[in-house]
Amino acid sequence: MVPHDLDDLEERPIKGTAIALRADFNVPLTPAAQQEGAGQSTAAMVSDASRIERTVPTIERLVAAGAKVVILSHLGRPGGRQDRALTMEPVARRLDELLAAPVGFVPHTWGPGVRRAVGAAEPGSVILLENTRFLPGETANERALATDWAEWADHFVLDAFGTAHRAHASTDGLPRAVRAKGGMAVAGALVERELVAFADALEEPRRPFVAALGGAKISGKIDVIEALLPRVDALLVGGAMANTFFRAMGMETGTSLVEAEKTGVATEVLEAAASRLVLPVDCVTAPAIAAGAPTRVVDRADIPPGEAVGDVGPVTVRLFGDYLAGAATVVWNGPLGVFEIDEFAHGTVGVARMAADVADRGATVIVGGGDSAAAARAAGVATRISHISTGGGASLDLLAGKELPGVAALSARRSRHVAADLSSEP
Ligand code: 3PG
Repeated sequence: MVPHDLDDLEERPIKGTAIALRADFNVPLTPAAQQEGAGQSTAAMVSDASRIERTVPTIERLVAAGAKVVILSHLGRPGGRQDRALTMEPVARRLDELLAAPVGFVPHTWGPGVRRAVGAAEPGSVILLENTRFLPGETANERALATDWAEWADHFVLDAFGTAHRAHASTDGLPRAVRAKGGMAVAGALVERELVAFADALEEPRRPFVAALGGAKISGKIDVIEALLPRVDALLVGGAMANTFFRAMGMETGTSLVEAEKTGVATEVLEAAASRLVLPVDCVTAPAIAAGAPTRVVDRADIPPGEAVGDVGPVTVRLFGDYLAGAATVVWNGPLGVFEIDEFAHGTVGVARMAADVADRGATVIVGGGDSAAAARAAGVATRISHISTGGGASLDLLAGKELPGVAALSARRSRHVAADLSSEP
């Protein structure tokens, strides 16, 4: 399904209308007490604003069109209760710094307080509502909540790619309620760019098409592995996920993280994959996965019984590098080791650098998932990657061939060929 977009929305007279913009401002905060040299009274601050920055083009476009932009987002997982530590106030302050237009913070998420604020807002102004997950009806996708928002919302824009895999009141119920009253529900610029990037890679990839998957668990990624295997020329697997495959192959895995109940699935994948599934051939192990732990590099067949795998080894990095170097399309999701600890970061940093090198040579490289994106930034190569996705779970679902509920709830186009110039990625 290809959703309508901002161009379609702007064909309507939107000046002065109230547009509910669902953003994903679920960003890391530095709590007040932890700021360097800060007293208790210092406000919390956004420590990584990349997700906010990526929605600025959509907001600016709506502001320029004279709409009242009413932003909804969740922050963290407060479980349907008010939690002062998860207020959107610091996000509003940061957004205010990033935008030319002033940003008003509304300390309400629904009801008369929001209706009054929307009613009083000037055309071309921006307001941010309090955390949607302060209300239990948000994750429960409660109809009454969606209907309350739709009372003031003339149209809906989804720019929350990172939350598009959740069927919540603000991502599913609200767009449907807006459409039911004759409004449009369209994809914002960020969501459109994400969908185009993944569609280009998955539907008509330039070949060779190489995917690299890491991360701790196989269970969250087995759907992705099964969906990608028939499409890729090579699927490189690292991270703790590889240990489950080692166990399925009857190898010693020491004290490594293994999902024993998934070894049957791993065996099936191994049988179906033929030579397209590429597992690590050597590993970095240690008695404990901790900073300063004594490490050793071993063949995957020689993992010591009392040690755990923390990273792929150097021969594997070169092997994966050979696959990546020849690729025309690369999709990478999940770190190959415990990259937050220097001793176990070489595999992930190596893949990040090699992915950037191949992007420099003209390949399309998509990095999805918060950890891989953080690794690309830590390796200093983020700006060389064709597309860094703002979504972790959402990008995995797309890779697994699933439809995202937040996108399915938008007004659909009949068909369209979308072409993207990813080289202009901000
Ligand atoms: C994310 O950070 O992945 C999104 O904001 C979704 O958050 P959630 O996993 O709490 O739904």
